[in-house]
Amino acid sequence: MDKNILNSISKDFDENGFVFFRNFFPPDIIEKANKEIEDYFLNHKSNHNEGGGSKFMEWKNPSQQKILDVMIDVYGKCPTLDHLVGQFLEDSTSSEFIKLVAGNIKLRGYNIQRFTGIIDPRPTIGPAPMNHEWHRDAPGEMNIGILLTDCPGPDNGASALIKGSQRFPYCPRKNCLLGQIMYYYDTSLNFFLKFNLFNRILARRILKNVTGAYGKKGDVYIFTNDVWHGREANLYGAKVMRMMIGFFPNDIPFPDKVKELPQEVLKQLPRSLQKVLLPQPINEFKNTLMHKILNGQKEPAFFSLFYLARMERKIANLLLRTYNYIHSLIAKISNKIKLNY
Ligand SMILES: [Fe+2]
Repeated sequence: MDKNILNSISKDFDENGFVFFRNFFPPDIIEKANKEIEDYFLNHKSNHNEGGGSKFMEWKNPSQQKILDVMIDVYGKCPTLDHLVGQFLEDSTSSEFIKLVAGNIKLRGYNIQRFTGIIDPRPTIGPAPMNHEWHRDAPGEMNIGILLTDCPGPDNGASALIKGSQRFPYCPRKNCLLGQIMYYYDTSLNFFLKFNLFNRILARRILKNVTGAYGKKGDVYIFTNDVWHGREANLYGAKVMRMMIGFFPNDIPFPDKVKELPQEVLKQLPRSLQKVLLPQPINEFKNTLMHKILNGQKEPAFFSLFYLARMERKIANLLLRTYNYIHSLIAKISNKIKLNY
């Protein structure tokens, strides 16, 4: 392992919150994995809930067109893919990097995202809209993304990333007014997404640092989910496929229950993959890059831009709740009046 490479990717990760391992896998082995996944999907798509916790999910756009199939926890379904993941976990540079970032890790998800090629235009409401809105996930979560097809950017459905946003004080989904909450298809905030000041200034600032996980099949990227991230539009009908492996440092609890893999599935997997699915000694040291990120997130300074943007969202929430309350009160009163007549 080359120490200089390791230092350089660690520096990149520290600065940006993500890092790329370009040309990690040769294209021919990725094509083999891709074919296995495609065959598995086509043979099982009618049976959504497979054994061993695997299942399929569909992701639709607001016009109810299916833009994405997500195959969840596909352990043991595509041997070539399992082999590739094992190789990544064993490789001297990537394994050493994961150690620096998180120490001993545990996996939360082992998923494939398969774009259908349906055009998914960028939403237009809000100062920084994104198809899957800007967000963070549970603190401490990270992702390994493996590109199983080329994903030339932008606007081909790549993971959208804001450089350096792992240091921001909070998650934008609940604290800002940047775009529609597409995950829930919640349009109730639309008025406030159009009329806001501080979120517009914040959007202008953060949009300078937007990029995406663009690359060629065989590239691998790792990002902390504390980076504000989302999913880009798919404007040209790209049929992108990627694997997303969610993982945590093993001293940080999962935010929800993660099912244990059945022994018969576990046995089929490469040893390095088995290792991160089985209990390992809990990290005692707290000087990983992930801990540095979490410790570095501070409350926004009084009247800073982040403070004011969050205050704007709080006011919007309050006005919305008040409006809904008055609306339901009026409805109740008018129903009562109708019943009395
Ligand atoms: Fe996420």
